[in-house]
Amino acid sequence: MTSAPLDRLVGSLAGTGMTRFFRRMFDDYPDLLMKDLTVEAVNPDRTIKLGGRWVTNFGSDSFLGLDQDLRVCAALERGVRTWGTHNGTSRAFSSAEPNVRAERKLAEWLGTEAALIYPSVTLANVGALPALVTRQDVLVADQFAHNSIDEGLKLAKARGVRTAKFEHNSPAALEETLRGLQPFRHAVVAVDGVYSMSGELPPLQEFDRICRAHNACLYVDDAHASGVLGEHGRGTVLASLGHYDNVLTVGSLSKGFSCLGGFVAGSQAAVDVLKLRSNSLIFGGPVPPPYLEAVCAVVDILMSPEYPALRARLDANVRKLAQGAARRGFTVLGGLVPIVSVLIGGEEATLKAGRFLYEQGYYAQSVVFPAVPHGHGVLRMQVNANHTPAQVDGLLDALTALAAGTAVPEPATAAAA
Ligand SMILES: Cc1ncc(COP(=O)(O)O)c(C=O)c1O
Repeated sequence: MTSAPLDRLVGSLAGTGMTRFFRRMFDDYPDLLMKDLTVEAVNPDRTIKLGGRWVTNFGSDSFLGLDQDLRVCAALERGVRTWGTHNGTSRAFSSAEPNVRAERKLAEWLGTEAALIYPSVTLANVGALPALVTRQDVLVADQFAHNSIDEGLKLAKARGVRTAKFEHNSPAALEETLRGLQPFRHAVVAVDGVYSMSGELPPLQEFDRICRAHNACLYVDDAHASGVLGEHGRGTVLASLGHYDNVLTVGSLSKGFSCLGGFVAGSQAAVDVLKLRSNSLIFGGPVPPPYLEAVCAVVDILMSPEYPALRARLDANVRKLAQGAARRGFTVLGGLVPIVSVLIGGEEATLKAGRFLYEQGYYAQSVVFPAVPHGHGVLRMQVNANHTPAQVDGLLDALTALAAGTAVPEPATAAAA
């Protein structure tokens, strides 16, 4: 029997770049790649049963530990009882009341005029970025900005918008790029608020100054900062600039918030335009109402007097792990945010390091290409407020054992990654 066109199509795709790369990884490191492991059970104490083994989870974006907060869980349950599982219609037709309420609460928390919730940050970026520009405008991004920003650029480019990337975190390169793109009517400059693989922050004040000088506005994807950086967890933009005058800030409702979705916040006029021009919002479904009830519960926690203590626990855990890893000879990237990445070396060494920790009872992510440049790798540990000091000490003991058996790269190599 001859194969169907779909079989032939899939066969050809299996021979293309990224698929071939992953196949080679699976062939070369069948026991080291842990991508196919399943989380079989979760305990409130940050332990998970992963691939048949109970381990302490240092791979969760639930930075404040709110995935286990009884008030957030109760809001979700109440939401199901009140609204059912889903609103069942695009927001182009109508919005469920918790959607409108959650947006109002997010804007009040941030101090922006308005906020607009998308089903994820990815859908926010691929919806909002192309919506913000027309053919007379330009769209510019940091070369290491999140993949979804890159996808937003590609969509805009397909519609005839000029796009460009500039050298990572370099104000001089941004200025040169904007100069080189003149003449344009308007420009949007997109960067991450926190680089999730390295934990680095961008020089927002310098970027803001350059943007204003070149008739550009800033678009900051603060997904990893939402709830965990800045006063009351409002993120990097307000903490760094003190205002949102020329900025759209993007946040996550899935990471520190432990709920579901993403948002773009800024002026009412900008949000109104995005509502009319973001295809991912108009032609896609919204976050289900129960999750929006949970988002409201999280904002209440962020604004409550209990927040400083929650944040202090998180910050203490981050400091303990970052300083402890550095004392053990590791080059720590970031360490200001709850993502503590240490440089291990090449792909195989990085995969082995992740496997070693797993066997010691700790799950951290071995990050290799395409998330970092080819041939490099980092061990990424995510710290949560409800990790106990003993759990962090245990991970540090495992890192001591790892360092004893690994040639840890020098900082110069770290800079290349
Ligand atoms: C900067 C940034 N933007 C967007 C995303 C994707 O967010 P989501 O899972 O909500 O699509 C991530 C995920 O880690 C991220 O780090």
